[in-house]
Amino acid sequence: MKFIIPSLSLRSSRNCCYPAQKSIMASPLTQTLTLSQTQTGSFHADPAQDDLDDIPCSEPQQERQERQQLLLSSSDSLPLGFGSPSRCLSGESLVERAWTHWAKLGRPKLIVAPMVDNSELPFRMLCRKYGAEAAYTPMLHSRIFTENEKYRNQEFTTCKEDRPLFVQFCANDPEVLLEAAMRVEPFCDYVDINFGCPQRIARRGNYGAFLMDNLPLVKSLVQKLALNLNVPVSCKIRVFPDLQDTIKYARMLEDAGCSLLAVHGRTRDEKDGKKFRADWDAIRAVKNAVRIPVLANGNIRHVDDVHTCLEKTGADGVLSAESLLENPALFAGYRTAEWVVGSEGSERDGKLDQTDLLVEYLKFCERYPVPWRMIRAHVHRMLGDWFRMHPHVREDLNSQSKLTFEFLYNMVDRLRELGTRIPLYLDDKHGDRVPADGLVSRDV
Ligand SMILES: Cc1cc2nc3c(=O)[nH]c(=O)nc-3n(C[C@H](O)[C@H](O)[C@H](O)COP(=O)(O)O)c2cc1C
Repeated sequence: MKFIIPSLSLRSSRNCCYPAQKSIMASPLTQTLTLSQTQTGSFHADPAQDDLDDIPCSEPQQERQERQQLLLSSSDSLPLGFGSPSRCLSGESLVERAWTHWAKLGRPKLIVAPMVDNSELPFRMLCRKYGAEAAYTPMLHSRIFTENEKYRNQEFTTCKEDRPLFVQFCANDPEVLLEAAMRVEPFCDYVDINFGCPQRIARRGNYGAFLMDNLPLVKSLVQKLALNLNVPVSCKIRVFPDLQDTIKYARMLEDAGCSLLAVHGRTRDEKDGKKFRADWDAIRAVKNAVRIPVLANGNIRHVDDVHTCLEKTGADGVLSAESLLENPALFAGYRTAEWVVGSEGSERDGKLDQTDLLVEYLKFCERYPVPWRMIRAHVHRMLGDWFRMHPHVREDLNSQSKLTFEFLYNMVDRLRELGTRIPLYLDDKHGDRVPADGLVSRDV
């Protein structure tokens, strides 16, 4: 088996139509390219720019080889908990093993949610630096992953420090899913199946939340992995409109061999996270109904939400997506001004802002190359407030068909020189949990 390193390669497919990334993957790579050119609405006006943005930012050849070596020789890359497939285990032992594994990982509570084009290695590393205790890769398309080496190389990169790691796939064929999963299992702590993607492309491709209409297939996907992988299988689901259906669904997944369940507390039709609040009561009901670890997803905007959510749902951890994109230091207790207004007034300037975070992110990208489109997306997300104050800087960015690190570092300098700083805030109530190195303690 070959491991996956970043490589200069063709543009890749994109595999789901989540908010930041409207150009999405159909099955064959060629189709995707067509789709991405005609449907892209987000950042690129013309196909030429798409091309340039899909090129990975460069990396010295030697470093790449060294890292590959490290990955291949690292004993840390062995799965931590399971070690052998769960073929003959009874339900009780499966649950026990699920908890042993979770405990070995340090019971991570603060977790970066899977995000297509956005939870890539440099972003995960940035979030880990600021308190994230585990992270998901973006959703990978299992069939394309098995068929296309360039897709594998570009869409899945990792490093020794990138643990605990969930690698997420979408799938509708158990054999294909297993083949894809076996390629990544030495480098992750869970192989995750996405049963939550609600977008049109998932309907067309028959995966994600649309498998909620075909629970026997869901069961066979989970069983296939549970019976054959050395790492545990986790699932990310949405809730049904009817609570009893959700509970039955969760129990079925557990019985099929799922070792960890992440529950996004919105239904398949509640696509807009800003419009629909996640249903934490439903997550609590799932937590009470199953015996494996459960993660809560939805409405985690700042660190107070983490506490409230854990308390209200009884979940073992939380996932955050949208809010982390804007503020990757969320888990370390930093909050944007939006969440300071109306609070008890104990917040102080945290001496950190989104330009600082962007610079740190760019440094990770120099070390761990990714396609420019991902970098471009993060620049817009992290600096959204800054651009609203200085739209001409955003326009300048948008007019660049080809990005460079030099341009981006200069752009940050320009924003800083414009004199308006937008700080991130720390709450004195939680200050004790944010050590000087920026890493939050695990004791949430
Ligand atoms: C840009 C973006 C990409 C996403 N991609 C994925 C994905 O690849 N897999 C997945 O299961 N969910 C994906 N999601 C959904 C999130 O993981 C999460 O379930 C959802 O945004 C709710 O969490 P939030 O309220 O913290 O945003 C994505 C969300 C965003 C914003």
